[in-house]
Amino acid sequence: MSAELNKEGWRKRKRGVPDIRWRAHICCWAAQHGLGLDGDFVECGVHTGILSLTVCHYLSMGSVPKSFWLFDTFEGIPLDGLNEAQRRQASALNRNVYSNVWDLAQRNFAPFPNARLVRGVLPGSLDEARIERIAYLSIDLNHAPAEMATIERLWPKLSLGAIVVIDDYAFRDHEAQYEAWNDFAARQGKMIVTLPTGQGLLIR
Ligand SMILES: C[S@@+](CC[C@H](N)C(=O)[O-])C[C@H]1O[C@@H](n2cnc3c(N)ncnc32)[C@H](O)[C@@H]1O
Repeated sequence: MSAELNKEGWRKRKRGVPDIRWRAHICCWAAQHGLGLDGDFVECGVHTGILSLTVCHYLSMGSVPKSFWLFDTFEGIPLDGLNEAQRRQASALNRNVYSNVWDLAQRNFAPFPNARLVRGVLPGSLDEARIERIAYLSIDLNHAPAEMATIERLWPKLSLGAIVVIDDYAFRDHEAQYEAWNDFAARQGKMIVTLPTGQGLLIR
């Protein structure tokens, strides 16, 4: 199901839709845990929604009394404010993977009225959503500075015990994210667990 619904959004990638079913499994588990906590669900970095769409279908999100806030530009990584190295990395991803997927994202999430797409550049676009508490957070921006700016804003809103799934945490070529997240966690007196999927889990 996921591959079919997301195919159009991954047409630029040579190998098509990535098979991230185990990562999606972790997101489903973390989101299900969030059902028992106060607050909404949030994903930062949605693209056409492999992870968050799987969560929506798995939990029948339409009948869950929470909003699922879904933040993205829906057209790739913004280049403003990046240094030379960051700009090179982001440009390569924009060239080889991302395109304008706004229409497809809207279609994919249409069956879930409480899935609320917020189109814009993070962390500024967080201002467009009224989020009081968060029960589940997935962060998948493929970009350390934006991930840090976003978690700094959202961490105080997480309910105690809520799980943050960090999608790219332990992957090769994502060392900047690994370092930044470890540094952030240490400042909170926390430690991130590395999963065999390459994701990191951080518990509030
Ligand atoms: C790896 S993709 C997300 C994949 C998605 N989680 C899934 O399950 O298919 C990363 C996304 O982050 C978005 N992104 C990166 N930096 C951003 C920023 N500063 N503001 C908003 N979106 C951003 C890109 O547009 C891209 O769609």
